[in-house]
Parts: sequence; structure tokens; C-alpha cells
Amino acid sequence: MRTPLSSQPAPALASRRKFLRFLAGSPLLAPIASRLLLSDGGDAEVRAADTVAMIEQAIASPEAALNVFEFEAAAKAKLPPAHWGYLSTGVEDDATLRANRTAFSKYHLRPRRLIDVRKIDQSTRLFGLDVKTPILLAPVGSQKAFHDDGETAVARAAREQRHQMILSTQTTTSVEDVNAAHGSPVWYQLYPTSSWEVTKGLIKRVQAAGCPVVMVTVDQLSFRSTETFQRIRRTDDRDCAECHSPRVFGRHKPMYQGLNTAGVTSNLFAGLTWEFVDRLRKETTLKIVLKGIVTREDAQLSVEHGVDGLLVSNHGGRAEESGWGTLDSLPEVVEAVAGKIPVLIDGGIRRGTDVFKALALGARAVCIGRPYVWGLSAFGQAGVEKVLNLLRLELEFAMKHAGTRSLQEITRSCVG
Ligand SMILES: Cc1cc2nc3c(=O)[nH]c(=O)nc-3n(C[C@H](O)[C@H](O)[C@H](O)COP(=O)(O)O)c2cc1C
Repeated sequence: MRTPLSSQPAPALASRRKFLRFLAGSPLLAPIASRLLLSDGGDAEVRAADTVAMIEQAIASPEAALNVFEFEAAAKAKLPPAHWGYLSTGVEDDATLRANRTAFSKYHLRPRRLIDVRKIDQSTRLFGLDVKTPILLAPVGSQKAFHDDGETAVARAAREQRHQMILSTQTTTSVEDVNAAHGSPVWYQLYPTSSWEVTKGLIKRVQAAGCPVVMVTVDQLSFRSTETFQRIRRTDDRDCAECHSPRVFGRHKPMYQGLNTAGVTSNLFAGLTWEFVDRLRKETTLKIVLKGIVTREDAQLSVEHGVDGLLVSNHGGRAEESGWGTLDSLPEVVEAVAGKIPVLIDGGIRRGTDVFKALALGARAVCIGRPYVWGLSAFGQAGVEKVLNLLRLELEFAMKHAGTRSLQEITRSCVG
């Protein structure tokens, strides 16, 4: 359900909200700003701003967290400005980043009463594999930029809490070490570059490591304008090149070690076409999931090209500045694949009720990105564990109130 233009805020109101949102970022003015925002209409963005505004002090331990937003404040307090900027940024005006959140406010749960909901089962099957919960960890690159234990801490947390982790090509820990910490093979996210040989090398390696699924990111072209990041980076006086030099592609990334990356300049590749998907299909027996599909046209093409699943994603608002939230795009993608392959979604999922709404609209599972990285940044493995725990618990509450005891019972009629 996309917001009709007529229901979008008028320009004057929009700029007032923009100003108030800016004020909401200030610890002193946040409570006043969020109250004024509420009086402007009370949409989800406003409510989220209010929740964030209520967090006046960063939590001192994971146990103190009431919800995942509290880890955001704690992460911001701990990270160097440039790393915080990299984590929090969208592109251009961050409109898509915000739309990912507001999209969830367009749907509401339809509670059902007098159903025995003492037992709740969140498990499901995806790509022929059992997963204990529909909440997966999205691929996020360079996790050692957020905590010294990086991907290892995340993998251990995922193992403890029994969630499936998806590992980025831009990982700062090798897939073999992450698999060992995860206790079972992770799913692998692939950035196609301009070199087929590099792709083949990566696939061969993750196949040997036992990874059953490869998630191909298709939404990163040759450039993206991360203005929020660039602005915050200006306030950081450390020399970035001391830790990571962008001049030699892949030099600091373990997954590129041993591969001939000469001639490759970036993992952002504007030359990607369906021919690549066909070639990959012939190359590997791994399940192929396309990450970044947001339209019915591309969903239909995906089915025609024999992929095994889709992740409706806009890279957490870091790819195109379309202004659509991923939940806005989900129904048309679900309709287009007509049950032939599973559809997953990520972007802006911060509450168990968000997970529930996505499942009700036809997603088979969801991925979260920033929330677990907030947990990692603030408290390492323990922070990630608490974030996962909170989301699962909130999903359980939502399922109980909707009278749904299993994921199969969550259907379109559960939300209005
Ligand atoms: C700091 C950061 C790094 C990311 N790195 C990758 C990556 O290496 N590969 C990828 O496919 N997606 C990457 N993503 C996108 C996530 O996989 C995911 O689509 C997004 O974070 C979901 O939105 P959310 O953060 O609102 O939950 C990254 C996102 C963030 C915030």
C-alpha cells in the first residue's frame, strides 16, 4: 500500500517536520521537539522520534534495554563519529531510509481473542533448511569497525540465540572463522564485481566452507551519495587511511585474499545484468537469492531466471533514493512470484510488530541490519544477543495477541 501523494505532508509542514526532527537529535530539545512532532500528525516516524527522544541516557548494560532503539543511543555514544556516520547514513536526503520506518505505520494488527496461545512456534523452513526464527541477520560489512570482535561476536550471538547469520563479502573475518563461531555454515552475501574470475573464486571458497545459500546484492551501482555520512565524517579528525585504504581494492578484506583483484576498483558495479544471474546459476548448485528486488517486473524476471528466493531490500536506504519503504514494495513482489519462491524483506525492522506485519503481507522471513550492529557496537556479543532476544520476544507478544501460534497462521487478514 503506497501512500497516495495527496496524503503526503504539504511542503511547509514537511519542512517544519524536518526542522523538528533535527531538533529531536539534540538531547536538550528532543522531548519538546517530539511533542510538537506528535501534534503535527502522529505518524510512525513521529512515534519513532518520540521513542528515541525518550532515551535520554545511553544504557550501561544490555540487560537495561527496553527495546532495540536503546542500543542505537548506546552505539552512538561509543563509536567514533565517522563509523557512526557510516552506520547511520542513508543516501541524499535519507528519504528512503525514513520511508523504511514509516511504511510500517500504514498497517495495524487485528487482535483476536479467546485462542489458546500458550505455545508459540517461530520456526520455519527456508531453502530446504530449518530455521528457528524468521528473524535473520542481514549482511553488514566491516564489522570490526564497530567492535574489535566484529563478525565473530555476531556469529556467536546468532548461535546462542539460534538465528541464521548472513555474512557480507566485505567481512573483516574469514568465512571459515565465522562458520566456526556460528556453529554451522552462514549464508553468504555476494557483491558481484567487474571480474567473473573473482566471483568464481568467492563462490568456490564459500561452497567449500559449506555455505548453502548465496545472496547476490543487486542494488549497488557505481556511485552512491551518502551525504549524512560525509557530513558526520568531517567532524572526525582521525586519519581513515591508517586503518583502511580504499586505494587497493580488497587489500584488507579476507574474502579477497588469494584472488586476482587487479583491475577491480570497487564492489559497486553498474555493469550487472541478468546474464550474470544465468551464469551464476550454471556455475553453482548453491541456492541463489537476489537481494535488492523491489518491483513486480524484476520479481517476475527473477522467477524466469531460476533464482531460489528474493530479498526485498533497498540496502537499508543506502542504495536508491526512491522514497519507497521496502514494506511498500513487498505486496507487489509477493503477488508477482505467486508463491513460486520465498520472499524475504529487510529495512527499518525495529519491533516484533514490524516482523509480524511483514510476515502478514507475505514475507517468509525478515532480516535486520542496523539493530544488531547497534548491539555489537555498544556491548559486543552480549549486545547482539539482547537485540535478538528482544525482537523475538516482541514477535511472540504480537503473535499471541493476533491468536497466531505458528508462522503459517500469520496471514493477510491479521493486519488491516
Ligand atoms: C553499515 C552497513 C553496512 C552494510 N553492508 C552491507 C554489505 O556488505 N552487503 C549487503 O548486501 N548489504 C549491506 N548492508 C545492507 C543490509 O544488508 C540491510 O539490507 C540493511 O541494513 C537493512 O536495513 P536496516 O539496517 O534498516 O535493518 C549494510 C547496511 C549497513 C547499515
